Amino acid sequence: KEFIRIELGDKKLFLLSNREPYMHIKEGENIKCVVPAGGLVTALDPVMKACDGVWIAHGAGDADREVVDREDKIRVPPEKPSYTLKRVWLTKEEEKKYYYGFSNEGLWPLCHITYVRPVFRKEDWIEYQRVNEKFANALLDEIKDEDSPLVLVQDYHLALVPLLIKQKRPDAKIALFWHIPWPNPEVFGICPWAREILIGMLGADLIGFHIQFYCNNFLDTVDRFLESKIDWEHFSIERRGQITTVKPFPISVSFEDFSDNVENKAKLKVKLIKELGIKAEYIGVGVDRIDYTKGILERFLGIERFLEKYPQFIGKFSFVQFGSPSRTHIKQYREIMDAVEEVADRINWKFQSNNYKPIVFLKGYHPHSKIIPFYKIADLCMVTSLHDGMNLVAKEFIASREDESGVLILSQFAGASRELKDAVIINPYDIESIADAIYDALTMDEDEKMERMRKMRSFIQERNIYRWTRDLIASLVRL
Ligand code: G6P
Repeated sequence: KEFIRIELGDKKLFLLSNREPYMHIKEGENIKCVVPAGGLVTALDPVMKACDGVWIAHGAGDADREVVDREDKIRVPPEKPSYTLKRVWLTKEEEKKYYYGFSNEGLWPLCHITYVRPVFRKEDWIEYQRVNEKFANALLDEIKDEDSPLVLVQDYHLALVPLLIKQKRPDAKIALFWHIPWPNPEVFGICPWAREILIGMLGADLIGFHIQFYCNNFLDTVDRFLESKIDWEHFSIERRGQITTVKPFPISVSFEDFSDNVENKAKLKVKLIKELGIKAEYIGVGVDRIDYTKGILERFLGIERFLEKYPQFIGKFSFVQFGSPSRTHIKQYREIMDAVEEVADRINWKFQSNNYKPIVFLKGYHPHSKIIPFYKIADLCMVTSLHDGMNLVAKEFIASREDESGVLILSQFAGASRELKDAVIINPYDIESIADAIYDALTMDEDEKMERMRKMRSFIQERNIYRWTRDLIASLVRL
């Protein structure tokens, strides 16, 4: 944290994202403030808490709207205010076309290889441009008294913001971080506005992706679609006098936030199992937004196959799946939610007896305080994404294991697999390999488990979210 402050000097940090870190929702007569699910907020909230600044985001949870001041700025988190949240309010129509439409029916499936066909509608694109302008204007207003402000733009919802800012404030130092994969040029070229998006992004001085592979794809895409000068050695692009450097910055978690010591793990395990109302000896855990990219169905089918193949674990192994409903106004998300429930139900029906249930599906919003105890007592954690920029659940699980036990089963298609080589790596399309990985995890000897966990823990302890921020800001200010 100190290093971030040193890099910042006397500068304030300005961060823009679609998703807000604290949502105000109505619960009966009361207004409740919740932290939404998703990697972006998990990663960046600790950073903003550590260095203050202004976070500009879509005010999706607007239950408190009538009671905030005219500028719509509040200090968060409510229990210990440490930075400013400025909300951009969107109309239903804007949200429908910019967020659900262009961002999540277009760019999201375009960038993830899951064979969900992206949909690009002209009216969504028009709204996407307008909303990007709205975000840029909100920022421009905030930085009017700042010299060479440092601006961190987040993710695929705001691809046009860097250029919109740069045109008005050439002195601003702008980084754009893309939290999801970047596809190859053939795939990106499906988007009818591929060029416009690239041009918008290239207003940034620095563009970050999680891994080198996405950086390579990005440069190939620019090479294919735009007139520009590319320096392949330094990974930079020059277009109309503006130079943009492209670099990998693998995102991470705040290690310390997960590392409370549990005195009696065995007792906690018994307590949690009892609270679930089930009987089990071994526990697996999964934590996801319910999204078709996460491979939740494949995970469940892997559990089914595991129990068929290794029946000695029937009655003993239960998998606890936390699933927060996500983007539910999109058909594919409603379908995956139904499918996940249906498959869990079918598998439970097949193997359950007395109090035994192989899959406990906890659908709904779950705060970290409810999830972390499960990370701590689980025998294994499963991340089976079909494609994922990074995946922070994998890193949260490791950070939580101060006992150096537990096994991580990790998809080879999650960015995290490039770093966490000591996980049990699987191909989620290969159900048999998931079944065998569960078996291997549950029968692995303690020494090997500890050896693997120790290595992954020391990696994440060092490469934590503060280090990510420091590296990103240091690269930006030195450009
Ligand atoms: C991914 C995206 C984030 C997004 C998160 C949750 O991690 O990269 O930008 O915030 O999913 O999705 P949501 O649509 O709920 O913001």
